[in-house]
Amino acid sequence: METQPLSAGTDRTREALLAAARQAAGSAYASRSGVHVGAAVLSAAGRVYAGCNVENAAFPLGNCAEPAAIAAGVLAEGSAFRIAEVAVWADTAGAQGFAISPCGGCRQRISELALGPGVLVHFTWPGPGLSSVAIGELLPFAFRMDARAAPLP
Ligand code: THU
Repeated sequence: METQPLSAGTDRTREALLAAARQAAGSAYASRSGVHVGAAVLSAAGRVYAGCNVENAAFPLGNCAEPAAIAAGVLAEGSAFRIAEVAVWADTAGAQGFAISPCGGCRQRISELALGPGVLVHFTWPGPGLSSVAIGELLPFAFRMDARAAPLP
């Protein structure tokens, strides 16, 4: 884990987030899907927090990796925690050819705490593939109840 604060938008930060997400995926409890997912979020304070998916025999109770990483950030930094950048990584053997792009619920969770719509989300494809897409593109017109809510028509 990095000891110095990281800045959003650099190659070094992207690689650090992907490395943290990949390491977190190694801890995943993916007993049903076999897809081990790790997520890492960079906080506005420059710190990295990671989480993994945790599945359950009662399928809908499984949790994605992203909320675990977000919860770790909120626990460490409190309600001031904000997301500056995100990476999601999954083992490609389990991913069977599809991108590990955040699900709709996770997009909403990231959007709520993102510093803005330009916050980058990096996610992996089988092989060396990587996409980097702004949260505002992944989830346009996100539901919000604050000043960043979509304007009325
Ligand atoms: N999953 C995540 O943890 N994050 C994502 O962004 C996509 C999907 C998990 C949920 C489930 O445990 C497994 O991947 C397969 O759907």
